[in-house]
Amino acid sequence: MSIRPMTVSDIPLVVGIERASFDDPWNEVLFEDELERADRAWLVATASDGRLLGYGGVMVTHGDAHLMDLAVEHGARRSGVGRRLLWALAEEAVALGAHRMTLEVAASNTAAVSLYGSCGFDIRGRRRGYYPRTGDDALLMWSRRLAPHLDAMRAATAGSDLVLAIESSCDETAASVMRGGTEQLSNVVASQVDFHARFGGVVPEIASRKHTEAVAGVVDEALEAAGVGLSDCHAVAVTVGPGLVGALVVGVAYAKGLAYTAGLPLVGVNHLEGHIYAARLLDPGLGPPIVALLVSGGHTMLVRITEWGRYETIGETLDDAVGEAFDKVAKLLGLGYPGGPVLSRLAVDGDPQAIPFPRPMLRTGDLNVSLSGLKTAVIQYVERERAAGRPLGLPDIAASFQAAVTDVQVVKTVRAVKEHGAQAVVLAGGVAANPFLRERLRDALEDVGVRLSVPPLELCTDNAAMIAAAAHDAIAAGRFLGLGADAVPNLRFGHSV
Ligand code: KG4
Ligand code: ZN
Repeated sequence: MSIRPMTVSDIPLVVGIERASFDDPWNEVLFEDELERADRAWLVATASDGRLLGYGGVMVTHGDAHLMDLAVEHGARRSGVGRRLLWALAEEAVALGAHRMTLEVAASNTAAVSLYGSCGFDIRGRRRGYYPRTGDDALLMWSRRLAPHLDAMRAATAGSDLVLAIESSCDETAASVMRGGTEQLSNVVASQVDFHARFGGVVPEIASRKHTEAVAGVVDEALEAAGVGLSDCHAVAVTVGPGLVGALVVGVAYAKGLAYTAGLPLVGVNHLEGHIYAARLLDPGLGPPIVALLVSGGHTMLVRITEWGRYETIGETLDDAVGEAFDKVAKLLGLGYPGGPVLSRLAVDGDPQAIPFPRPMLRTGDLNVSLSGLKTAVIQYVERERAAGRPLGLPDIAASFQAAVTDVQVVKTVRAVKEHGAQAVVLAGGVAANPFLRERLRDALEDVGVRLSVPPLELCTDNAAMIAAAAHDAIAAGRFLGLGADAVPNLRFGHSV
């Protein structure tokens, strides 16, 4: 794609896109008149074969640029044309003496509102019933100061970007500084696990309070360990979801504050995407088509990755997450929280075949799993043994439970690989720390000639290095967040942040 000034000969095609895009389109005469004016800049985006993909124009008066029009041809939408045009128009506006840029957008046009938000525009007002034909409201959006903002984005997208990332979606407050998406300069994780342990699980209110207490210190430590200052960084990245809302907002608010004070672009990252990038950090050869098995305390899903940045959930748990099942069984056995590490240690000395726990959904044709039936079976077994006055054989229970969980995960993952023709599997999330699951999955995948990529242990559980790695690709694609951005507790794959 390339961008060049609009000429009179572009106008017929421009008007075609204009008519297909707006209820109240501009006509040829209006465009001809615009092209003659000195305080205007009109640009078009074209494909390599010369096809017109989109266009836009700005007017500059008294140091303010006003975006007058921006439209992208229907078939070229969602491919970054609008963002590239907007940036180029902002550069033109600066050249014409503008300090800031303003625009109106129909409130119902959510795609456009999020595009402008991602380019650093914030909503500053609303004009009720602004569009006469539809009665729709207009949102009034303003950019940050253009020249420093453009400089900051240019520096960030130069490739060797230095990113400060913050993660606070659950019970770890984490920050990391990374260069160029792979060179980890620091990775600080402050776990709150001890504060939640006596409640047998994460208590959202405690999580929010602990994040608030820890975030400033953790970020300072990450910068110090990396030997850089905030002003050396090119962007601030933060997990925006999914996760606990009260926990996410702490990281998001802090990141926004840093981005604002240092004049840096803000980048939003999907936490689950981060877990997948954790695998790529030490395995640079890893590439699509990939199937990822994401197993943590909050999530259990199979995700298909056709290209980096493009994800599709192809299977998930219908009830408990795998980590949650480990935690609940450990709680039942009085083993404390988190349950995964304790149970997997105990399982080493147990017999995986000692107790025939059920393998729910093993034979359903789909890629979903269910763990509540297995959990109930463990509860019933424990109650029966206790009622009979027999001592509990903890290692055998742990090993048999772990084997049942693992069998189902392995079978579903292998099925996903075959159905979707994946060449590699990423095992990620906190439960990826489980040695039995790693080994069984590696063996099963070896049999079908597919390689397994697992992040190193410290990158399996929640951390900010994985958020920085995912942010690098978002930055390269020019996907930034406005300072009006919020946490999205139930963020799903495929929804842009
Ligand atoms: O990804 P993570 O740190 O946080 C969430 O986003 O949930 O995952 C934590 C979960 C906990 O449920 C913990 O019990 C589980 O990962 N886990 C394990 C093991 N280590 C941690 N589960 C099974 N075996 C392990 N060795
Ligand atoms: Zn996680």
